Amino acid sequence: MFAVISDIHSNLEALSTVLADIETRGIKTIYCLGDVIGYGPNPRECLDLIIDRTKWCVLGNHDYAVFYEPTNFNYGAEQASFWTRFSLEAEQHGASRDRRWSFLGELPMRQTLKTKLGTNAAIIDFVHASPRKPVNEYIFPDDVYTNPQKVKLVFERVKHICFVGHTHLPGVFLDEPDFYAPDELNNIYPITEKEKAIVNIGSVGQPRDRDNRASYVYVDGSEVHFVRLDYDIETTTQKIKAIEELDNFQAERLQEGR
Ligand SMILES: [Fe+2]
Repeated sequence: MFAVISDIHSNLEALSTVLADIETRGIKTIYCLGDVIGYGPNPRECLDLIIDRTKWCVLGNHDYAVFYEPTNFNYGAEQASFWTRFSLEAEQHGASRDRRWSFLGELPMRQTLKTKLGTNAAIIDFVHASPRKPVNEYIFPDDVYTNPQKVKLVFERVKHICFVGHTHLPGVFLDEPDFYAPDELNNIYPITEKEKAIVNIGSVGQPRDRDNRASYVYVDGSEVHFVRLDYDIETTTQKIKAIEELDNFQAERLQEGR
């Protein structure tokens, strides 16, 4: 069994809740799809937990923005990146500060796992955004209707299964193309040897599908299970509002799940 988490966005309450749930299930292996930081109030704590608790993490566009430069960010996201960089720099303890910066600077764009899931052979790619453009490309559910050619081209880059985050909208893309929200799948997607799928695991720290609960998945045998968890949103929103550089919108969107 393994769990996959993504888009924590410096939300310590959501991350702690998800990690506790994973532990309760007895799952020891956790992979992370990036955007550990950006938007939220606890970048240091979230980085420390991800470094300590995950087997690997890939580079998200917000991790890139803090370490390198924000590219194509709106004003609020850009301000949050600069505040996050300031917060990481302000750490007095040199070893902790260096460990976080080294981690951010060494994040790969992609990881691949060749494994057996139950009796099925599987090749699983892990990227932040898209198998075609791993850090920045958005694959939206609507694309299957409005831009099916784009989804088909993206699927040309999929070997078998690809886990993504980035849009903060959980669900499964098939190459027909089609998209299924977790509800439509009773929260389970069965991986088969023949069917290609892009599995968006949703966001731990900033869900945007109008459901404000933290989202992640775990894989048991050949089944991907989508999980949603209530967490202490009130504490996170209060912290955001107390930091002048973080736009209050970042707090409101957590309440509304958008
Ligand atoms: Fe994100």
